[in-house]
Amino acid sequence: MLADLLNHNLLWAAAKTREDPAFFKRLSALQKPEYLWIGCSDSRVPANVITGLEPGEVFVHRNVANLVHRGDLNLLSVLEFAVEALDVEHIIVCGHYGCGGVRAAIDGHRHGIIDHWLQPIRDVADICRHELEELDGEEARHNRLCELSIRAQVDGLSRTPIIKSAWNRGKSLSIHGWVYGLNDGIIRDLNCSHSG
Ligand code: CO
Repeated sequence: MLADLLNHNLLWAAAKTREDPAFFKRLSALQKPEYLWIGCSDSRVPANVITGLEPGEVFVHRNVANLVHRGDLNLLSVLEFAVEALDVEHIIVCGHYGCGGVRAAIDGHRHGIIDHWLQPIRDVADICRHELEELDGEEARHNRLCELSIRAQVDGLSRTPIIKSAWNRGKSLSIHGWVYGLNDGIIRDLNCSHSG
């Protein structure tokens, strides 16, 4: 029920104010997050909740299957603002096992516009065909493709002019690839970080 959401919000705002009377005053004056999160739109992978971050602590961009398309004005605008204006020090690309976008990319069915959006995942699947074929079972192949796609997005980000120019200026900025497990709630670091 929508009314429940608004009621919950009132209780949340009151509780926040009780524990920290200056909380909203401080946040309304300035946001200074240290992290940019690029994650999947999946409702089961909410950035703040699974990392314990409070409002003001993480700048968030989410899309289906956490992809970094070269011409995505939405993502590039978020990225530039996060790097240039907010001065974030860490960018986290967080995908997840069991990602419906990754599944839809290679299930051989026609889904509509989303098929175009998911093309980079098919590209990764093609490039890593041999590695994926060697794995035992559909689930293992799917999980590995989730990881490989995240790594590809981290690589893609590191080659964008926004990131390159930040590194050229000596800015401290790292890009990380993480994967979240829907079935255990645990985030794994894929150890594919880049820093200037
Ligand atoms: Co997903």
